[in-house]
Amino acid sequence: WDQTGHQTIATIAASHLSPAAQTAVADLFDAKDATSGMTDIADWADRVRRSRDGTSHWHYVDIPVTSDGYDPARDCPDDDCIVAQIGKEIAIVKDKSLLKPVRAEALKFLIHFVGDIHQPMHCADNQDKGGNRITLMAAGKKSNLHAVWDNAVIRAIGSEPADIAATLSAKIPPDVAAQWSTGTPDLWANESFQIAKTKIYPQFPGTGTTLAPIVLPESYPSSVGTITATQLAKGGLRLAAVLNAAFAEPAPIT
Ligand code: ADE
Ligand code: ZN
Ligand code: ZN
Repeated sequence: WDQTGHQTIATIAASHLSPAAQTAVADLFDAKDATSGMTDIADWADRVRRSRDGTSHWHYVDIPVTSDGYDPARDCPDDDCIVAQIGKEIAIVKDKSLLKPVRAEALKFLIHFVGDIHQPMHCADNQDKGGNRITLMAAGKKSNLHAVWDNAVIRAIGSEPADIAATLSAKIPPDVAAQWSTGTPDLWANESFQIAKTKIYPQFPGTGTTLAPIVLPESYPSSVGTITATQLAKGGLRLAAVLNAAFAEPAPIT
């Protein structure tokens, strides 16, 4: 997702944090509150993606669209993918024996990757770098299918993270929010994968670099608005669940 997407997810997550998690997050970031701390760094991992050698693979997992779903041995060799990386960042964030800057950096990565794993095109591949090689014209500009899913589909539902987050939060009944706040990174990746495989890729036939120039229908971004909204909301709710668990007080010894 672009900065707006990541900030939307961070805003939704911040509004679902326990008091303990709010305090811990604000402390680690030296921020006035969890919301500002989290939105300020939500796209930091993208800003350092090029300069920080080796972090690039952490933003996605290439699950082949010809497969039935995530296979760690095939799709995450050497634990070098978003699914494995989320687990590693959680472990660092939780480890109070580590230095604060180390835990703060892991928290920055964690907030970003729980967002990215909910972008369907970050969990699917058709020998096209997650749609990056499916070039098309979108709103009169040269773009690609991956970029449309990082940016245009979000722009179709709003431009201000705080507004998008408030609109989405208001639409989700508490019981649905509770259901969505569950799972593990492998399940979240499979959910994203299934969306890409069954709902996105079939509308863009062809393998690898497409030969025929595709013009994206003007209606496309809003036509996938429900999927986009659901993925942003799930990302936010699940990020909150991860952080609430990571910063839960250990059970007292009785
Ligand atoms: N590079 C290669 N595959 C990718 C994907 N699925 N998402 C983002 N970047 C990628
Ligand atoms: Zn990213
Ligand atoms: Zn992307």
